[in-house]
Amino acid sequence: MSGKKSYIRLLFIAVFTLLFSFKAFAITVGFAQIGAESSWRTAETQSIKEEAQKRGYTLKFSDAQQKQENQIKAIRSFIAQGVDAIILAPVVETGWERVLREAKKAKIPVILVDRGIAVDDDSLYYTKVASDFIFEGRLAGSWLAQALHGQGKVVELQGSTGASAAIDRQKGFKEVVDLFPKLNIIATQNGEFTRTKGKEVMEAFLKAHGNNIDAVYAHNDDMALGAIQAIKDFGMVPGEDIKLISVDAVKGAFEAMIDGDLNATVECNPLLGPLAFDQVELALAGKEAPKWVVQDDLIHLRENAKETVASRKY
Ligand code: AHR
Repeated sequence: MSGKKSYIRLLFIAVFTLLFSFKAFAITVGFAQIGAESSWRTAETQSIKEEAQKRGYTLKFSDAQQKQENQIKAIRSFIAQGVDAIILAPVVETGWERVLREAKKAKIPVILVDRGIAVDDDSLYYTKVASDFIFEGRLAGSWLAQALHGQGKVVELQGSTGASAAIDRQKGFKEVVDLFPKLNIIATQNGEFTRTKGKEVMEAFLKAHGNNIDAVYAHNDDMALGAIQAIKDFGMVPGEDIKLISVDAVKGAFEAMIDGDLNATVECNPLLGPLAFDQVELALAGKEAPKWVVQDDLIHLRENAKETVASRKY
């Protein structure tokens, strides 16, 4: 073979290898996010985006604006585009079978993040990376029971209807509260996980129950921050006249604890990017994963807020 021919052959092999390896590493992941209702959600979105970039993956992002139908459309579009994997933060628990069967048929692994789903066939998703919301509810209930010495009237600001985070946080909390006959949940209503709605619902609670409210349990910090404003506007002192505990442990909650307005917050870590992409890699390598990768949670009290705030990442 002449020198020129073997040079062309080598060049051809090099280009082919390069193209092949590029194809092998050009991984595309679709992320079907719920929306941007809370500071927690924004931190989660950022974590997933940052991790995709760090690992050199292409991320297709969709914001469903709180609507399941938009998430389903996004998943179908990811399937049509032939993504390698899908990350789904499911807005509600039910109604996913059909679209997940379509993803399974297309051999695209689905990794659930943050919230869970209720399906009979758990082979419809690869794994779930999430906190234990029932445990979070139990933690909140235990703290409140001791803070009120086992008796008092509690109002509950629920997260969006049908979301596993709302269902399970209510369940865990109620389990503990029901152990104390003189500790009662006197009102419970959907505050949609937002500050605005949390304030609105708290205003209605105050109008109906006035000075009879001893404590607020909010399924997230944003709603608690809205409730704090409502309590102040009503002429009562949050954190003293009415005790408040919520879930998430975002920066805003630490600031409210430092100001004395919020008594405690249960951590729910939104920085799920690294764990989620570890699962994407396992799935693409054809390996098995546990069905639930649990994020550990703990409780933060206002007494320690000042020393902890500087180390907070969200
Ligand atoms: O599913 C997690 C919950 O959703 C967070 O606690 C809340 O802030 C969010 O919007």
